[in-house]
Amino acid sequence: PTPLRVALLGCGVVGSQVARLLREQHDDLAARVGAPLDLVGIAVRDVDVPREGVDPALLTTDAEGLVARADIVVEVIGGLEPARSLLLRAIGCGASVVTANKALLAEDGPTLYAAADAAGVDVYFEAAVAGAIPIVRPVRESLAGDRVRRIVGIVNGTTNYVLDQMATERLDLDAAVAQAQALGYAEADPTADVEGYDAAAKAAILASLAFHMRVPLEDVHREGITAITAEDVTWAASTGHVVKLLAIAERTDDGVSVRVHPALVPTTHPLSGVRGAFNAVFVEAESAGELMFYGRGAGGAPTASAVLGDVVSAARNRVLGGRGPVESSYADLPVLPASAA
Ligand code: HSE
Repeated sequence: PTPLRVALLGCGVVGSQVARLLREQHDDLAARVGAPLDLVGIAVRDVDVPREGVDPALLTTDAEGLVARADIVVEVIGGLEPARSLLLRAIGCGASVVTANKALLAEDGPTLYAAADAAGVDVYFEAAVAGAIPIVRPVRESLAGDRVRRIVGIVNGTTNYVLDQMATERLDLDAAVAQAQALGYAEADPTADVEGYDAAAKAAILASLAFHMRVPLEDVHREGITAITAEDVTWAASTGHVVKLLAIAERTDDGVSVRVHPALVPTTHPLSGVRGAFNAVFVEAESAGELMFYGRGAGGAPTASAVLGDVVSAARNRVLGGRGPVESSYADLPVLPASAA
């Protein structure tokens, strides 16, 4: 069978792990897909930065040229540009795309979905929400025949790690954030984590999939953890609670409510036991009832696992001549202000 050409955009914490897995599991993946997955290039800003375990011959600064000669483009650069232009170019050239870019999907997902729809290619993005945890596929595909009522989750590993360290090691916010950065959990700019932007983007993506509607990021109520003090955390513990940054999306009588804010979770609740950079997501659907997803929500290898799963799905679809899920019909539901929820 003809090999499928995979292009990687970005080679940071996640990208380098994706490159490693594509190399180490080359034969297994070929057997699973029905065709070899050949990594044909990795677009980076600076080819001279040494990257452990990555073949320097694959590195290029010509991202536009690279996407034009790929069957599957994997984007792990993050941020709006140049990620959006490169993905649109990839789709325009007929490639299937896999992205971990929550900011881009939350801000402008429908543009990507429409372009992919018109081109007849796939857009997969399991890694954009909750790292290694399969949550996008369940909400997007497994629950497509159900009616989701509510999603409540811990979807940012950095803030969960930080709150955890504040509670157990009595670290202050900055010291704990520095640790999260050193462990590869935090965003390039950790403001996105501690101010709740990262969780808000993930909440918007999950809400839009769950409720089949557009959820403008500016309609997501957002409050981060920067105002939380060591005293707050200690006081919470003395009352049998843990402070957690929660992402909540729920259907109401009039529309939906999507919000991110710190909350007091009783120690009897399963979410209180989610430690370190782990994430957990509860989903409540009309027929399915309550579902719970738990696992590593950040870090290179866990996130790369989700990316690779998407690459395999996109590759199989190409081999079989089929397509994955399509995001095209959205309901016209209002996102309500947080106070109405
Ligand atoms: N900075 C994010 C987190 C990485 O801490 O959860 C995964 O999206």
